[in-house]
Amino acid sequence: MAQPPPPASLRLGVNIDHVATIRNARGGAHPDPVRAAALAAAAGADGITAHLREDRRHISDGDIDRLRHGIALPLNLEMAATPEMLEIALRHRPHACCLVPEKREERTTEGGLNAAGQQGVLKPFIAKLTAAGIRVSLFIEPTAAQIEAARVLGAPVVELHTGRYCEVAGDTRESELARLQAAAALAAELGLECHAGHGLSFETVGPVAAIPTIAELNIGHFLIGEAIFTGLEAAIGRMRALMAAAR
Ligand code: PXP
Repeated sequence: MAQPPPPASLRLGVNIDHVATIRNARGGAHPDPVRAAALAAAAGADGITAHLREDRRHISDGDIDRLRHGIALPLNLEMAATPEMLEIALRHRPHACCLVPEKREERTTEGGLNAAGQQGVLKPFIAKLTAAGIRVSLFIEPTAAQIEAARVLGAPVVELHTGRYCEVAGDTRESELARLQAAAALAAELGLECHAGHGLSFETVGPVAAIPTIAELNIGHFLIGEAIFTGLEAAIGRMRALMAAAR
């Protein structure tokens, strides 16, 4: 397959889930994740990412509707590969769907999708989203087996899970970074667009942003947390500056 040209610039997708987490703590309407998305757009985000979880612990169905129709930026809907989510995605037709594994008990998305081990389920699922004009990405661990499976499944995009790289330190972080670099190179070789995300912060973003074949980073928890101290606009501005400096 022809290799896509290296992406000229690195996009930032801002995940606004945890604005909804705070809202839901009191059950009212404030703070509104859609207002945060509008602010993120004004601060230079290239896209908005939101995860509609099976248990609706943060983003709600109504949020997805308002994000889809009230925000001009592309919406990246993260979701599990379930019949319920497929119906919702086909109804809202976001720009992109990122398929993630989901366990009810987990605090956040732990580990990547087992694309290699679920081909029978994922192939028709991806085909239906693609036929509706939705760009599908698979949130996977940075391994050759998962990247090759994504290509076989017909997903045009992979998002590499950076959680482990962010959690560890020292030599282990270096070896996790090397895994991300090798995976991003393989994705490009196979003609897949490569994204990355999970756990990224001001401290960890640079080396990932420097990987030349990565086209997009999706960042949420750290930015929303940092916004408490500096405001969302400043947090996004600093993240963008670190990404640009690393590139
Ligand atoms: N990408 C994917 C696929 C995710 O599931 C998440 C978490 O919802 C993120 C990126 C963002 O991770 P974080 O909130 O840790 O920045």
